[in-house]
Amino acid sequence: MKTIFQTFGFVIASLFVVTCATKAVTVASAETAPTKEFVKANFTEDQLAQGKTHFENNCAQCHKLFDPNSRNAEKWNNVLKRMLPKTDLRYEDGRLVQAYLVANSE
Ligand code: HEC
Repeated sequence: MKTIFQTFGFVIASLFVVTCATKAVTVASAETAPTKEFVKANFTEDQLAQGKTHFENNCAQCHKLFDPNSRNAEKWNNVLKRMLPKTDLRYEDGRLVQAYLVANSE
């Protein structure tokens, strides 16, 4: 009987660890590689408008402003990994630029 409880306890503990680990990964990737659905569900109109302003003020220093609609969400997420570090934007403001571009992506 004791072993059954031990096994049961182990299974519960493992499930708990797996669930928490999966959740952490999902949150992290939703933040750094959000989908259009994620952005629309988690950012306000006001935040997207701020993202647009930061985009216009920071992303045309070296080249023209690229149309948000010129790329899909996945492409923007990849490009931004290279472009955001080139700007002086703070981390949170960079996430707003990303949200604006993904929300208006192809
Ligand atoms: C310090 C200069 C600089 C800043 C600031 C900058 N970029 Fe760029 N960007 C470049 C250069 C250089 C290239 C071409 C080389 C490359 O693709 O890495 C480029 C290329 C691009 C491309 C085309 C690349 C592709 O693979 O499709 C996009 C889109 C882009 N930038 C978007 C942005 C956005 C959005 C921002 C603001 C967050 C930004 N850039 C800020 C220098 C800059």
